[in-house]
Amino acid sequence: MSEIAGYTYGTTAVAPSPISLDDFEKLRATVLFGTEDEHYLRMAGEVLAGQTDAILDLWYGFVGSHPHLVQYFTDGQGNALTDYLGAVRARFGQWIADLCRRPYDQDWLNYQHEIALRHHRAKKNQTDGARSVPIIHFRYMVAFIYPITATIRQFLAAKGHSADEVDKMHQAWFKAVTLSVILWSVPYVKEGDF
Ligand code: HEM
Repeated sequence: MSEIAGYTYGTTAVAPSPISLDDFEKLRATVLFGTEDEHYLRMAGEVLAGQTDAILDLWYGFVGSHPHLVQYFTDGQGNALTDYLGAVRARFGQWIADLCRRPYDQDWLNYQHEIALRHHRAKKNQTDGARSVPIIHFRYMVAFIYPITATIRQFLAAKGHSADEVDKMHQAWFKAVTLSVILWSVPYVKEGDF
């Protein structure tokens, strides 16, 4: 059982995803995500498990050093909301494990939609009762695929795996993050156009 505040994975608090497993299967095929990727993503999960805090320090440092990014954690007047940053950080750490280790089944799909809503004005700030700006703009959702992927490599390489294994874990991670951001795009796309 998880003690992470606001983490509702697999519970009835999470609404069904509007994306069917069949449509998701076509997305998986489109990013060439196969059984080999599943295998290397599991390996990545083991490699990253003890490194969560170091990864989050790096990512939070990246966001914190860019005013146009950190503003999404502020009250809109330039004041960062530290409680909000801390609450999200705990769920972000859990997400790394979930991305690598959970089966991509209906529960996983449903929680991706929940994360989508939490970035969008539909539900941002609600989970933590934060008095922050109302939406993370879509352009940065897509842009984040690159830093979230580029910066993970050093952590995948930190446990003595061969260059080939590191490459394969990295490719699998890139595909999994891309799939996630596609699913997180749903609330931003005009009805019927997704
Ligand atoms: C690849 C893109 C991104 C990834 C992987 C990511 C990951 C996450 C995760 C795992 C959570 C917590 C989900 C949960 O509640 O269980 C979260 C929430 C959040 N993220 Fe992102 N994120 C991305 C893009 C962005 C961008 C571009 C920003 C802007 C700086 C951002 C700011 C936030 C904020 C403010 C929350 C809290 C939302 C709320 O009020 O519930 N994220 N993100």
